[in-house]
Amino acid sequence: THVFVCGSRSSGSRSSSVMAEEAKKLAAYAAVDNHVRNSHVLGVGSGSTVVYAVERLAQRVRQEKLNIVCVPTSFQARQLILKHSLTLSDLDRHPELDVAIDGADEVDAMLTLIKGGGGCLTQEKIVAGCAKHFIVIADYRKDSKSLGQQWKKGVPIEVIPMAYVPISRSIMQRFGGEVSLRMAVSKAGPVVTDNSNFILDWKFEQAQNWKEVNFAIKMIPGVVETGLFVGMAEKVYFGMEDGTVKTR
Ligand code: 5RP
Repeated sequence: THVFVCGSRSSGSRSSSVMAEEAKKLAAYAAVDNHVRNSHVLGVGSGSTVVYAVERLAQRVRQEKLNIVCVPTSFQARQLILKHSLTLSDLDRHPELDVAIDGADEVDAMLTLIKGGGGCLTQEKIVAGCAKHFIVIADYRKDSKSLGQQWKKGVPIEVIPMAYVPISRSIMQRFGGEVSLRMAVSKAGPVVTDNSNFILDWKFEQAQNWKEVNFAIKMIPGVVETGLFVGMAEKVYFGMEDGTVKTR
């Protein structure tokens, strides 16, 4: 009954979705055009915004005859790379990446991110950590002064399945808020990640020192990784409602 869901999520109402789709595409195209060069090893993130980045990458590889090697952050990313006939690799063969491009669920003023809405946060963090430059692409809905203002679903945390109850209790006791086990859309069972783990979503009550909180949660036995990306992103491209691209 466990359902695999990684990298896919539905977005809001139809008209706002159409606008957001355009914004995602603008951000993704700008990031690929500005950061990808011939002979790069590229980390390919997960989610719906990254779909546009891979689309643009494939166009450029064909038109400019670029030699690009792609390292995926999820099964979804792997399938995208293969679908576009791009060169697929891994961290065994390419442990150093020139650039990683990925989406985010929320980006604050300090470029701290919440990621993992699609459940791929662990591999995303590993790949981003191996890249010289970590570039984020997002639509205007992800732009925030302080985490929690835009993304209401909390911080995703990947955990070893047998430990999800003690980890949930420990987080609530120490940091407050509510922790829930992420269930599949069908409600038939929990979401299972690409690494065969579960995802907890921690709805926090107030802004925190995210560096400290990230560290403290990571130290709880059974926590694999958190969706807090602190001090990792170098630049963010936001596609805006008016058709422009804003960077931070
Ligand atoms: C998946 C992620 C995604 O990058 C994040 O959820 C953003 O997704 P989208 O581009 O579909 O809004 O972290 O784990």
